[in-house]
Amino acid sequence: MRSVRPRLPILIALCVAVSAASGQHAAKCADCHRQQATSQPSTGMAHALQSAASSPILGSHSKLAFHQGPFAYTIERQGDQSIYRVTSGSGPAAEEFSVPISWSFGLGAAGQTYLLNRDGRWYESRVSFYKDTDSLDLTVGARPEVPSSLNEAIGRELSKKGAEECFNCHATGALPGGVLNTDKLTAGVQCARCHEQTEAHLAGFETASVVIPPKLGRMSSEETADFCGQCHRTWATIAIQGPHNITNVRFQPYRLVNSRCYDAADARIRCTTCHDPHNDAPRALASFDKQCQACHSATKGKPGAKLCKVGKSECASCHMPKVEIKEAHNKFTDHWIRIARAGDPIPH
Ligand code: HEC
Ligand code: HEC
Ligand code: HEC
Ligand code: HEC
Ligand code: HEC
Ligand code: HEC
Ligand code: HEC
Repeated sequence: MRSVRPRLPILIALCVAVSAASGQHAAKCADCHRQQATSQPSTGMAHALQSAASSPILGSHSKLAFHQGPFAYTIERQGDQSIYRVTSGSGPAAEEFSVPISWSFGLGAAGQTYLLNRDGRWYESRVSFYKDTDSLDLTVGARPEVPSSLNEAIGRELSKKGAEECFNCHATGALPGGVLNTDKLTAGVQCARCHEQTEAHLAGFETASVVIPPKLGRMSSEETADFCGQCHRTWATIAIQGPHNITNVRFQPYRLVNSRCYDAADARIRCTTCHDPHNDAPRALASFDKQCQACHSATKGKPGAKLCKVGKSECASCHMPKVEIKEAHNKFTDHWIRIARAGDPIPH
């Protein structure tokens, strides 16, 4: 590509384009990619991170409370802030910690966890909000024992790398130049988090040196599982780091790759065959049948893929059962597609 010295109007166009492409301004893409730009902003992924001010769950709960041993937790709304407060004991010996919540993680499809900033260090709240009970409970992964000090009761201090990772999976442009910058990020998984070169793509229309982002639709099953797996965890990540128990049901790439249906080179079993990453509107389970029948068909199926003698529709209801993870207050769809007989142990 030819490099030219940009003139002022082009520079301005470039700056506008850069700020647009880095985030939620799907509107900038809408002129040319109406379909994706219309549905994507209402996906769960687009709302995977919210500021405390813009979090609907925090905004609609004036006071949330939780107790464990001598520790009392409250999250109280004050204007557009939510104050996370932990107190221990009562009377003159009582201790208290409070801080405004910085960020809320998770749309709250099931749960929502808070990140707190205390003197420049990041903490994961020890308690999270859960939709099923409309109240607080321990954060997934938090040690269930009563903490031994107020300091421990606040939550888990994150390493620098740990905090970077949280934001990198739940936000867009969180690590400009490889360094976490929460002032610059755009909350949620937006266009530019998945599509590279969108700045150059937009700027290119101003300069007529058109840059087309990589065509992700050309990825193989394996490449797609690894692409989605950068956040949903890859097969290799779980195989090496675990968890090696049933809680890995929430990591779809690992489960799917373990299924006998999986073929790294067959596009019929890609994540994007069954999911449009730009649209997660609820679908009837039967609407996934045609994806199974692309291989499991008497006429035009895949060699070796047999027919079912038991069911004809809603294949996923029997072969991709929902598995409840109690501590997450959630049910996950098991992507380890298989014959799942009642009472059989769930593989992991
Ligand atoms: C940058 C990280 C990231 C990438 C890449 C990513 N996801 Fe997600 N995804 C998330 C997060 C975070 C959530 C949880 C959203 C929530 O509920 O807060 C999620 C949720 C989902 C959901 C549940 C519905 C929803 O939107 O809440 C589906 C389905 C999904 N992702 C599919 C995919 C597929 C398919 C791919 C690959 C094409 C993919 N994701 C790539 C981070 C990512
Ligand atoms: C979670 C990751 C993710 C996000 C966020 C995302 N995309 Fe995509 N996009 C993909 C993947 C994967 C493909 C290829 C698979 C497919 O065609 O569905 C794709 C394909 C596309 C295509 C080509 C579609 C086609 O039919 O040829 C366009 C255009 C596009 N995305 C635009 C956008 C725009 C605009 C946004 C923001 C409003 C956006 N994407 C957000 C992952 C994402
Ligand atoms: C002025 C119109 C225009 C705007 C604005 C625009 N695009 Fe595009 N985009 C195109 C054209 C033209 C192509 C090439 C299509 C092709 O080659 O099939 C393209 C291709 C793409 C592709 C590759 C599609 C594929 O086939 O996989 C992606 C991804 C994409 N654009 C994302 C975006 C995103 C994200 C934005 C907003 C930040 C955006 N585009 C804004 C016109 C536009
Ligand atoms: C490797 C990428 C990645 C990292 C790192 C990550 N998350 Fe997530 N997170 C996801 C994905 C993908 C989902 C959706 C699937 C699931 O529930 O596991 C999710 C889901 C969640 C949910 C549940 C959303 C809901 O609606 O139920 C919360 C809360 C959450 N993450 C908080 C955090 C916090 C806090 C951190 C840092 C301590 C963090 N995440 C680090 C990718 C990541
Ligand atoms: C890419 C093609 C492909 C797709 C898509 C696919 N399968 Fe399969 N499936 C196969 C093949 C091939 C086998 C046989 C593998 C073997 O015997 O080693 C198989 C095996 C199975 C088995 C038997 C597994 C076992 O452990 O004995 C079940 C059940 C099954 N598939 C159900 C489904 C359902 C339900 C769907 C849709 C949700 C689906 N498959 C999608 C190719 C596919
Ligand atoms: C009501 C539950 C149910 C539904 C719905 C269902 N199946 Fe099955 N399927 C089973 C059971 C149970 C078996 C094991 C039968 C046996 O004992 O051999 C089975 C077996 C299979 C096998 C293995 C066949 C073999 O000969 O090894 C495949 C492949 C399969 N199903 C695919 C599908 C597909 C594709 C659909 C949707 C069109 C579907 N199933 C719908 C319950 C179901
Ligand atoms: C053969 C079809 C199929 C494939 C391939 C597939 N999924 Fe799914 N997925 C489903 C079904 C069915 C559901 C449940 C939908 C429902 O109940 O609303 C689901 C649900 C999900 C959810 C929501 C959370 C949950 O546990 O219900 C996420 C996230 C997700 N899939 C991610 C992925 C990723 C990432 C890949 C690729 C590794 C993938 N899926 C491949 C069929 C598929």
